[in-house]
Amino acid sequence: TGVITMDPGYKNSGSCKSDITFLDGEEGILRYRGYSIEDLAEKANFLEVSYLVIFGELPTKQQLHQFEEDIRKYTLVNEEMKNIIDGFPKTAHPMGVLSSLTSALTAFNPKVVNVDNEKEMYDTVCKTMGKFLVLATWTFRKSSGFPLNYYDNTKGYVENFMRLMFELPTGPYTINPVVVDALDKLFILHADHEQNCSTSTVRMVGSSQSGLFASISAGVSALWGPLHGGANQAVLEMLEAIQKDGGDADKYMAKAKDKDDPFRLMGFGHRVYKNFDPRARIIKKAADEVLATLGVNDPVLAIAKKLEEAALNDDYFKSRNLYPNVDFYSGIIYRALGIPTDMFTVMFAIGRLPGWIAQWKEMRLNKEPIGRPRQIYTGHPLRDFKEVDKR
Ligand code: CMC
Repeated sequence: TGVITMDPGYKNSGSCKSDITFLDGEEGILRYRGYSIEDLAEKANFLEVSYLVIFGELPTKQQLHQFEEDIRKYTLVNEEMKNIIDGFPKTAHPMGVLSSLTSALTAFNPKVVNVDNEKEMYDTVCKTMGKFLVLATWTFRKSSGFPLNYYDNTKGYVENFMRLMFELPTGPYTINPVVVDALDKLFILHADHEQNCSTSTVRMVGSSQSGLFASISAGVSALWGPLHGGANQAVLEMLEAIQKDGGDADKYMAKAKDKDDPFRLMGFGHRVYKNFDPRARIIKKAADEVLATLGVNDPVLAIAKKLEEAALNDDYFKSRNLYPNVDFYSGIIYRALGIPTDMFTVMFAIGRLPGWIAQWKEMRLNKEPIGRPRQIYTGHPLRDFKEVDKR
């Protein structure tokens, strides 16, 4: 009842109160639970930040150690899940496979967690963090045709990610600490971003009291789109297209500025951050370090460097506050690490997982009502029904 206010895309509607992430787009500020993203990216690791985002406080040394241990316990995935993976064609997009596998976890864990039971909730968090990482990498092993890998209990979470992805039966995989550090930062930078499309989806699905795995599976699907997590894949596809077309960055700068041309430079600009994306600042440094350490000599990445420099010094881009965003640099790092383009959004999903869990938990603890927006009906008024033989 009452007047319905339209707000397409919910640009000006708050859907909830939240204690998790503070974001000020004008000032370029991002904080998780009150801690600046700069401090966290510099001084903490991904599991520490995950613990903070999900449980509200930084873990003590003992709590962090225990958290790592407890996640490890859940990294074995039911063997029957492999039948499901085998059923996918090799060409299936990893995000589609990941969403399906996350949903399939509900079959092996049918009980919806009781959020008010701290122990039960904690175990479910560890289970989700453990299994999701393994399944995410298995989507790649499937598409590449390599045998599936298992978690190595002597290695950390992010190191395990690289191993699970790339280690072959022919020998151990050596991991460069600069790479682990850069990935750790990237996951931290993606850990939460308040009520974005996938997070709002997770909360919405969970608001009908669906379980955590089902809600996260929906979040993965929402993240997949090119206007959200899929942007990092779009950046690399654009760079590859420019290279195929002769590698002329200036030509594409001109296209981006031409108001009669719909082309946009992917990876530049942001809906909320209008001065700069604080995540991009942090990750630019890591991208430079990774490229220098690995001594990467890749023409596609050279185009990225040219575009970055051109845009940062260009009046059109400067006057519209269009800066490279986090997706621009994350794509560069992933490419340098040999992660295939269609896995980029899966990387984002691994990073965003603690945010989804935290937001789901908060929504349930706050006993939020079922999400159920209204509409303004624009269809036919009442019509007379005609039987099928009279139409
Ligand atoms: N290249 C060229 N011109 C652009 C670009 C771009 N990437 N982005 C914005 N503009 C221009 C736009 O044409 C407009 O110009 P004018 O004022 O002359 O009409 C002006 O800048 C303002 O653009 P807008 O469309 O009003 O800005 P928005 O806030 O609606 O859009 C955006 C933000 C991110 C969708 C947009 O900048 C864009 O399409 N960027 C490229 C795609 C991309 O990288 N997306 C990833 C964003 S980060 C993802 C995440 O955090 O989840």
